Amino acid sequence: MPDVRTELPGPAGRAIIDADAAVTSGSLPRAYPLVPRRAYGSVVEDADGNLFLDCNAGIAVTSTGHCHPAVVAAVTAQATELLHYSASDFYLPIYSRMCSALAATAPIDGPVRAFLTNSGAEAVEGAMKLARYATGRPYVISFFGAFHGRTYGAMTLTASKAKYHKGFGPLVPGVLHAPYAFNRVDPDTGARSHDEEETFDYLENTLFRYQVPPSEVAAIFVEPVQGEGGYIVPHAAWLARLRSLCDKYGILLVADEVQSGMGRTGRMWAIEYSGVRPDILISAKGIASGLPLGAFMARAPLMEKWGAGAHGSTYGGSPVPCAAGLATLSVIESEGLLANATEQGEFLMSGLREIWAEHPKTVTDVRGVGLMIGVEFRSAELAERVQLRAFERGLLVLECGESTIRVSPPLVFTREQATTALRIFAEVVNSAGT
Ligand SMILES: Cc1ncc(COP(=O)(O)O)c(C=O)c1O
Repeated sequence: MPDVRTELPGPAGRAIIDADAAVTSGSLPRAYPLVPRRAYGSVVEDADGNLFLDCNAGIAVTSTGHCHPAVVAAVTAQATELLHYSASDFYLPIYSRMCSALAATAPIDGPVRAFLTNSGAEAVEGAMKLARYATGRPYVISFFGAFHGRTYGAMTLTASKAKYHKGFGPLVPGVLHAPYAFNRVDPDTGARSHDEEETFDYLENTLFRYQVPPSEVAAIFVEPVQGEGGYIVPHAAWLARLRSLCDKYGILLVADEVQSGMGRTGRMWAIEYSGVRPDILISAKGIASGLPLGAFMARAPLMEKWGAGAHGSTYGGSPVPCAAGLATLSVIESEGLLANATEQGEFLMSGLREIWAEHPKTVTDVRGVGLMIGVEFRSAELAERVQLRAFERGLLVLECGESTIRVSPPLVFTREQATTALRIFAEVVNSAGT
């Protein structure tokens, strides 16, 4: 449970931050002065011995909790056997085992093939290349508010904040954006509305009419729950309509589940809630409990279209991350983490909704699914204050969107930890207006 005994950062943390400031890239978007030294389950200890309850999971990564013994054992065993051999050029048994274990979970029609990467952005790049290659079409569409990563293709697909593009142009040609699903709460009445029309009206009557014909669009990239853009949950019908639109024009539907996947929403993949089957599915973050691994999976005939050498990676699907990935999948199954994400998520959501009801002038929305929950504040300043004060009280949360705090703890989060998180969050919100 949280225990903060020094000012933050403490003396050891301060020394590390000062040393870091002298040598690291100025681009790193540090949120607050947390200096983790070790972590276990959902608790992080900093360099000064302070303990924090982790509702970040290292930005939605440590799905099975920090240093899960089964993951650590798998990593350790693999590290003594084989650290590296490139799976691009040779045959690694653990690589194909990981591909087949992932494919077995993928809500994609027919046989599935996978390509393993080191990160989410790389998986997005690969998916974009595959979509263009397999369809022979030049354009791709993603959504306003989307975050797909920092490499050129992924950054171009990203449209959550203009600062992610600033100074980097020209971006990758052939990428267009459309409005995402509308899911808003009227701050005065508290009424929620979903508007599907805006997206489809824009695509059919503006983008396909004035910019590019749909017959030249290779793919639509969508986050089934928008992450960095503010934890926005579309209506299932919106995703279904997107699928129909893709079918109508022969466009591939690519689900980016880097943040929403691997059980975070209480299903292995968030898109399962809608029953929609994507053509390509992207994963990373929670896939290996913290080791660098990503993947894109696709209907087999798509991946059979590109020939040897069209895409590869020296490190992608390296043996140690694959060992962590296989252990992660097995822990999610054996410990019932999907059910736990649903149960603790519902508990957190109802507690957060009570906080919202008590502070309607401060909190303007609580939304989410499973352990992917966003709490929206009336202003960015308020959200920032809550984030910082929560940190000072030993609760780790992180902003996203314009003024949203995301609550995304490890999937092993317990009821006791959820109760503590709610208590601290309530106290922080209570004091945030002052
Ligand atoms: C939905 C989504 N896609 C892609 C990425 C990029 O992943 P990475 O940071 O591993 O490159 C992120 C990272 O936050 C993400 O949330």
